Amino acid sequence: MAPERKFFVGGNWKMNGNKKEIDGIIAFLTAGPLDPNTELVCGVPSCYLEYCRQKLPATIGVAAQNCYKVPKGAFTGEISPAMIKDVGVEWVILGHSERRNVFGESDALIAEKVGHALSEGLKVIPCIGEKLEERESGKTEEVVFSQLKAIIEKIPLDKWENVVIAYEPVWAIGTGKTASPQQAQEVHGKLRQWLSENVNAEVAQKVRIIYGGSVTAENCRELAKEADIDGSLVGGASLKPDFIHIVNASQ
Ligand code: 13P
Repeated sequence: MAPERKFFVGGNWKMNGNKKEIDGIIAFLTAGPLDPNTELVCGVPSCYLEYCRQKLPATIGVAAQNCYKVPKGAFTGEISPAMIKDVGVEWVILGHSERRNVFGESDALIAEKVGHALSEGLKVIPCIGEKLEERESGKTEEVVFSQLKAIIEKIPLDKWENVVIAYEPVWAIGTGKTASPQQAQEVHGKLRQWLSENVNAEVAQKVRIIYGGSVTAENCRELAKEADIDGSLVGGASLKPDFIHIVNASQ
């Protein structure tokens, strides 16, 4: 991680937890100790957004795990950025691989969501990443660049400070098969280079690119040492007290 970029750790709870379990997570996060040099954000199920925002310390961000692309209307089952902001929440994760691959969200839809969420004043964590067969057939760069291209077209230059990009290779999510620090760094470095060529050098230098996929208390420090890895997006391991080690991985 480069010193000019603040280390960022997201806990993506996915569809896990109930009030009792969430109280447990809030308790270990509140007890810490958390490195004040890490920006920490918890991605919580939508029905618990307000509960978590009220119970978590103000120093810990809260994120929705998805939202729709318009402020309101006849879209049964969806929530809007305006609603997320209305309950005091600052962030949204968009384009997670489970949204793409389980719910069939396209690059175009994800890009529209990113643009709308930013215009409504939310901070956004857009996710990209290749599947195993894409990596094995040498298409990793092609896939992640085209996912990113759709997204950057909807990000106005003055909104980049509200964006944290998550690179999550699909084959590493929930599988215990973490990308090696070298594998992850290789993609992060190429993403930053691509951003410098396709947005500008300043954005490329400043934007945080975090890694997700089977990050644990054991592997987080090696990942954090890589030059272009600015933190992590953590699924399973964010539900357990060991998550504190991941938050503090850059110490
Ligand atoms: P795991 O950490 O459980 O592999 O999940 C990663 C992820 O999808 C975070 O968004």
